[in-house]
Amino acid sequence: MELQPIIKWAGGKRWLVRKASELFPAEYNNYIEPFLGGAAVFFHMQPKIALLSDVNAELINVYSAVKCDWQAVVDELKVHQMRHGKEYYYKVRALEPENSIAGAARTLYLNRTCWNGLYRVNLNGQFNVPIGTKSNVLMDIENFPYVADLLQNATLQVADFEDSIDAAKEGDFVFIDPPYTVKHNFNGFIKYNEDLFRWEDQVRLKCAVERAVSRGAKVLVLNANHESIANLYDDFEQIVLSRSNVLAGKSEFRGVYQELAVRCWN
Ligand SMILES: C[S@@+](CC[C@H](N)C(=O)[O-])C[C@H]1O[C@@H](n2cnc3c(N)ncnc32)[C@H](O)[C@@H]1O
Repeated sequence: MELQPIIKWAGGKRWLVRKASELFPAEYNNYIEPFLGGAAVFFHMQPKIALLSDVNAELINVYSAVKCDWQAVVDELKVHQMRHGKEYYYKVRALEPENSIAGAARTLYLNRTCWNGLYRVNLNGQFNVPIGTKSNVLMDIENFPYVADLLQNATLQVADFEDSIDAAKEGDFVFIDPPYTVKHNFNGFIKYNEDLFRWEDQVRLKCAVERAVSRGAKVLVLNANHESIANLYDDFEQIVLSRSNVLAGKSEFRGVYQELAVRCWN
């Protein structure tokens, strides 16, 4: 059964699954995804055993809560759906959730009704995106029971990418989809990411990839198709992919642009 992400995430890889799923290995042991976001590739691969992580604790809590009690999350989403409106949205946005289930429902509610499905926090780490135009908190067809089922085989952790990549062993598949940053800027979206993920992090990531590959793991890295990234991974096979960039804010950044897939195994 094809599963869709339950959360909309900037840089989501649904397009990759549709366009280039031949990039993924047919056989592997553990599936490791250290920049989880919306988890589009995990939902596509549906691995038997997985290690999933992200540095964003609010995001990981969504998956943990759905794994633990998806029905309770859906019940809270139904309440949000019933009460949804401008005043209610801002009230929920200002609230500190009482527990993990309420936190997950709050994150999903805000994600589904906020402006452009963006995730953005202020300097204090509080979600600060205004209300958007969509009001569907629950879709007609939801995957929650299947998502929860799939997550039973996954270990979830809030972690820096290095911790999870360093756990990869021979025969494991590591799918790496970091925030896109390059040595010299050429794109507004990348400029925004720069504050969160610096060039030093890209270099630190490449070193972790090399260590995993030397242990026999299969590693696939996605990034911007930029000279600095191509140079950083010049010892591995590189495939240029074209796609439409629909999340760029300014119209000059919309349109088709290219990404780079780096395949690190034979
Ligand atoms: C491009 S998104 C991943 C998108 C995901 N593949 C999808 O399909 O939705 C990048 C993710 O990296 C996470 N991130 C940023 N810095 C990180 C770090 N140092 N360690 C782990 N995750 C990090 C962000 O929270 C974000 O969720």
